[in-house]
Amino acid sequence: MRQSPAVRRLVSETDAVPRRLVLPLFVREGLAEPVPIGSMPGVVQHTMDSLRRAATDAAEVGVGGVMLFGVPAVRDAQGSGADDPNGILNLATTALAQEVGDALVVQTDLCLDEFTDHGHCGVLAPDGTVDNDASLERYASMALAQARAGSAMLGLSGMMDGQVGHVRAALDAEGFTDTLILAYSAKYAGAFYGPFREAVDSQLKGDRRTYQMDPGNAREGVREALLDVDEGADVVMVKPALPYLDVLAEVRASVDVPVWAYQVSGEYAMVEAAAANGWIDRRGAILESLTAIRRAGADVILTYWAAEAARWLSPGR
Ligand code: PBG
Repeated sequence: MRQSPAVRRLVSETDAVPRRLVLPLFVREGLAEPVPIGSMPGVVQHTMDSLRRAATDAAEVGVGGVMLFGVPAVRDAQGSGADDPNGILNLATTALAQEVGDALVVQTDLCLDEFTDHGHCGVLAPDGTVDNDASLERYASMALAQARAGSAMLGLSGMMDGQVGHVRAALDAEGFTDTLILAYSAKYAGAFYGPFREAVDSQLKGDRRTYQMDPGNAREGVREALLDVDEGADVVMVKPALPYLDVLAEVRASVDVPVWAYQVSGEYAMVEAAAANGWIDRRGAILESLTAIRRAGADVILTYWAAEAARWLSPGR
């Protein structure tokens, strides 16, 4: 069955199509020009204008959604920029919802780390540890701000216990019953988010091991996904993607909601660096990684290559 291209095409089990890709985008407050991210060649911190153009481009090539991250000019201990209606992320959300909201799904990262001066995903207790339940109150307020701004789907990436149920209840109480929740259920603490820290000018010292997961734990990933479904998640996610395909496959087999995967900044940087050195076929490696993540069970993939890959994958190309 492998001899002719026509048969191979006919019997191929897995494909990645543009609608299954979501493009993460960074927008930074007060920028005059887009700023390249050194550790993620080809990815930038956007101005409001360049953000609009990037989202329109993505919509034109058929990408299924965009995931927005905001980089505020000022940070504080509570992450006040996160639920400020005039905060950069909320303003950008409204702009994109108007511009491309009919063509693709405008999603927002719901986490405090971009907005706090200590760089943690929640607020801190007096002893310096992350206070889970106090952080949930901040998430509820952030969720309402994002929903009011026009976000169609909130990406809960903070890994606080009970965050899905808490945010769902807050949204429903204010009438945002149709605002979707994408739960970053199995999010592992590790080295692959390194370039992202540069992308959002993260202030983090130390690590996130008290709330993100131990890379060795697969059963716990499934348990987290089941809990999130129970609390009302519309979609669950595994993150990073390529180093966690086994977890992805197990989660896929365990839940009946869509399962997404996030091909994170470190996965992107590895391929780009190897390709820049002439050590790997860039396009081949990108498409193979997307196919592998789909094969393992991801319905949708968040990837910084979404727009470029969508161009390659569009029918007729
Ligand atoms: C939290 C968040 C992070 C990423 C997505 N959402 C950072 C973290 O958890 O450390 C990482 C994405 C990537 O590395 O591409 N706001």
